[in-house]
Amino acid sequence: MSLPPDDVSPHIARRKRLQDYMHSLGGGIALLPAARPAMRNRDADYPYRQDSDFLYLTGFPEPDAWLVLIAGKDDRAILFCRNKDETRELWEGVRLGPDAAVARLGFDEAYGIERLDELLPGLLLDRPTLFARLLQDERVDQTVRRALEGARQQGRSGQRPPASQHDPLPFLAEMRLIKDPTEIATMRRAAKISAGAHARAMRHTRPGMREYEIEAELLYEFRRHGAQSVAYNAIVAAGPNACILHYPAGDAELRDGQLLLIDAGCEVDGYAADITRTFPVNGRYSGPQRLLYDLTVAAQDAARQATRPGVSWNDSHEAAVRVLAQGLIDAGLLQGSLDGVLESKAYNRFYMHRTGHWLGLDVHDVGDYRDPGAPSGVDRPWRLLEKGMVLTIEPGLYVRPAEDVPEAYWNIGIRTEDDALVTDEGCELITRAVPADAQEIEALMRE
Ligand code: GLY
Ligand code: MN
Ligand code: MN
Repeated sequence: MSLPPDDVSPHIARRKRLQDYMHSLGGGIALLPAARPAMRNRDADYPYRQDSDFLYLTGFPEPDAWLVLIAGKDDRAILFCRNKDETRELWEGVRLGPDAAVARLGFDEAYGIERLDELLPGLLLDRPTLFARLLQDERVDQTVRRALEGARQQGRSGQRPPASQHDPLPFLAEMRLIKDPTEIATMRRAAKISAGAHARAMRHTRPGMREYEIEAELLYEFRRHGAQSVAYNAIVAAGPNACILHYPAGDAELRDGQLLLIDAGCEVDGYAADITRTFPVNGRYSGPQRLLYDLTVAAQDAARQATRPGVSWNDSHEAAVRVLAQGLIDAGLLQGSLDGVLESKAYNRFYMHRTGHWLGLDVHDVGDYRDPGAPSGVDRPWRLLEKGMVLTIEPGLYVRPAEDVPEAYWNIGIRTEDDALVTDEGCELITRAVPADAQEIEALMRE
């Protein structure tokens, strides 16, 4: 469990697929930069996180690097990266260096990053298309601009710089949407560690503790199993805080009779898990809590059944909404018929987010939710699910105090979130090492 990975054959295969795509468009050169380090405050930076597309294609975790892919008569994969430097490595940590990058990461060539400006112009010559995302990061634009200017100057002898430019990221997003076996294995590890952390939180929760103490249990479990990071900042929300969708772990006390909502997942080798559980601080759901809780579990189950190859991405959301809406009517939180409530979207008041999102290197992973083959327009049809996609299924209910809402439900916020891998026939919830069933959660909390 580390980066760069021991086996880089998947990354080599991905680069080859991107090159094949470039060939299909007449060939050219692709430029993809590593993520830039971000300063937190004076002399202290944020933990470095590699750019997801760059990581997907290289497995290389260091900053100050560029991937150059050539699709032409001479297909090549070139890495520019930091040179070995004894003094800097003493302060900042080991660098792989260009020589080892060739040997370990399967590049055809590698150079020190300080040679980028010198070598890029020549590499651009006689490449019909430049595959790069421009106008997103000014420093990337400047590097590309300098290289193009250099190529134009060098090109006076008759060679030409690229005449067209093409953004490679939509193609990469389509690739990343279908996970390969290596990615699935890594995501299973992230899912298992994250599920274990939720189970640990359930076992440790007692009235009188603070939200941050439970966050500490989660982080401890992530790190002790080798996860390098959280996949996103953990939400640990006691009682009414659970009705704030992006509430971070704060210092609120966990009170007897309240629910605790935890949305937390770790990152393993760049891949995210994303799990939410909501359980009673004192170990037993009250009647109203249990009623709404079971509703989210039933909604999730309906969505799970609609998650299989060939089915529209939106079907699982509609299935979950149907169950939640009927339950809200039965509980007296909504009035009218099911069809009426679905039509008016009156359920939005208690369920205001969608039932899921793609999951992968990014917690809200890349990939079109609409049919990428359909003509552009506002009403492009939803895309159909395919084997190898990974998505979350996360119905929730959030009830704020209001005169027209029975008081027994006030301040209850619940979400039940698991990660689903689309299989041949249906889907597999890869995060179920922590239970979602209310009775099983209560039993776990008694341990
Ligand atoms: N944890 C972010 C989400 O559930 O979408
Ligand atoms: Mn999610
Ligand atoms: Mn989540």
